[in-house]
Amino acid sequence: MDKVKVGIIGLGRLGRRYAENLQFKVQHAELVAACSLNSDELDYAKNVLQVPHVYASHEDMLSRTDLDAVYIISSTDKHAEHFIAALDAGVHVFCEKPLALNVEACERVEAHSMQRPDQFAVVGFVRRFDPSYAHAKKKVDEGAIGTPFFVKSQTVDMDEQAPFQLDFVKSSGGMFHDFNVHDIDLVRWFTGSNIETVYSIGGAYRHKAFAELNDADNVLTTCALENGGMASIHASRTAFHGHDTFTEVVGTEGSLRIGRPAALNRVEISDQYGVRQECVRTFYERFEEGFLLQTQDFVDCIVEGRKPELTLRDATEATRTATAMTRSFREKNTVMCR
Ligand SMILES: NC(=O)c1ccc[n+]([C@@H]2O[C@H](COP(=O)([O-])OP(=O)(O)OC[C@H]3O[C@@H](n4cnc5c(N)ncnc54)[C@H](O)[C@@H]3O)[C@@H](O)[C@H]2O)c1
Repeated sequence: MDKVKVGIIGLGRLGRRYAENLQFKVQHAELVAACSLNSDELDYAKNVLQVPHVYASHEDMLSRTDLDAVYIISSTDKHAEHFIAALDAGVHVFCEKPLALNVEACERVEAHSMQRPDQFAVVGFVRRFDPSYAHAKKKVDEGAIGTPFFVKSQTVDMDEQAPFQLDFVKSSGGMFHDFNVHDIDLVRWFTGSNIETVYSIGGAYRHKAFAELNDADNVLTTCALENGGMASIHASRTAFHGHDTFTEVVGTEGSLRIGRPAALNRVEISDQYGVRQECVRTFYERFEEGFLLQTQDFVDCIVEGRKPELTLRDATEATRTATAMTRSFREKNTVMCR
């Protein structure tokens, strides 16, 4: 295959970044079609990204017969529907996290995908492609810290994002599905174990409006793993210093930490505020390289006929745990994940 012909569904905050990467940076890819409900985004795709065919409906885009792959970066509550439609159109499918907001929808997509074994089907967990996380995983697999038994992981957004999130939460499923689904995937990746039980607490401490949406601005979960290990997972919408994604993996012979400080670069500034480093402000600033590597990897898998490492089961398990956390938070109880 010379070039993988790609269509994209969703050109919003993140979809636009994928579209830019696919059109200008990813090798062996050609973005031939794009779909969004928003006409400004379609104009941007056509006029700035030079995407030749744009659509207001995913059905119309998927009726094209020249597509090899579709990237789904639409609103979370539409992922499963778009995923199944793309599989039915006969193309390889990459979808942003999370696959869906309940396990039943995830399993529907999995069942559909199993009937089409020649089409690759993946849900993206970008941290696995971030060079620091990938290096940490290699060290853990080489035995550098012995057997990992405890993962602490957090996803922390800047407070300035909170007003946007008040609307976004209506389709994203709330903090556990939207933020902590990444941390859940990391726990599974580093320990090789599913999460057995969760106990989640939290509240809308600074932005009371999240409580009216049955959500929070800070949450904390204690997890017992099926293999006897443990994890502690935190999410926050109220940081003032920067986007602060951080993970620590503790093993029987050492530990490693990924992401601290949330520094923009290696420059240290000494001024009237003290000795300090500037911080990354958004998830995209932090994971820009990972997003590009992840997008390239899926195209490479198609070109090389190489099966992607991430499976739909990974996505289903992440949604299973995020669903249990959401229930635990709302019911104020320990919840079994299965
Ligand atoms: N991996 C990460 O760190 C990360 C970060 C941000 C967002 N995301 C995920 O990316 C996805 C998109 O997030 P976003 O912030 O770009 O959202 P957004 O609201 O900015 O954009 C959503 C896009 O989906 C399109 N869309 C929605 N329903 C549609 C439909 N029925 N048909 C066609 N297009 C439709 C909209 O037109 C828009 O272009 C979400 O699932 C989110 O969880 C992941």
